[in-house]
Amino acid sequence: MYGLINTAMKDLVVSRFGEEKWEEIRRRAKVGDEGFANMHKYPDEITYSLVGAASEVLGAPAADLLEAFGEHWTVYSARVGFGHLLDFAGDNLVDFLRNLDSMHTRIGMTFTELEPPSFSVSDVGPDSLRLHYRSKRPGLTPVAIGMVKGLGTRFGTPVSVETELSREGGHDHDVLLVRFGASNVA
Ligand code: HEM
Repeated sequence: MYGLINTAMKDLVVSRFGEEKWEEIRRRAKVGDEGFANMHKYPDEITYSLVGAASEVLGAPAADLLEAFGEHWTVYSARVGFGHLLDFAGDNLVDFLRNLDSMHTRIGMTFTELEPPSFSVSDVGPDSLRLHYRSKRPGLTPVAIGMVKGLGTRFGTPVSVETELSREGGHDHDVLLVRFGASNVA
């Protein structure tokens, strides 16, 4: 994955747990201390190793860390200069989710080796929809869930996400039931 992703993970860890914890995670993952170039493509194994090491060092399930990463990403990507891409993708949750593929296509003009996931939307109702998530990578469903929750925060819409069907469970892709709007407030 592009260095931008690994750097965003570092930003999340450092902001919540401090620089020392990141150093411990980095060393445990056998990653050098030279940092990541945002626009350079690194093997996915590096990202997975960092997540595994973070889970051990912080004593938290990898899925929880991945979801936190997804939520962090919606704020971080805007902070480091990609806000216009988010702005362009829509001014409400439903439109935004519909536009995820065209947004990644646009991102692919800058990140020419991008291997993006694919999303489609079905069954749109007044307060729910189904989001279909496809990826060549395993295990990243919690990232997608965290990102959808982060988008809920971005649009001031309380969101909950339930996995209805999963690749892990043998389906060919993940089907996420996204509930949103005032009726979703606990
Ligand atoms: C301006 C904002 C965004 C940028 C710049 C961006 C860029 C990227 C990049 C660079 C990757 C790594 C893929 C690779 O290196 O080949 C990625 C992966 C991913 N993106 Fe985006 N993205 C953005 C917003 C979003 C949003 C809002 C979602 C919401 C669902 C999303 C969903 C994902 C997921 C789930 C992955 C993990 C890879 C996978 O599933 O295979 N992205 N994106």
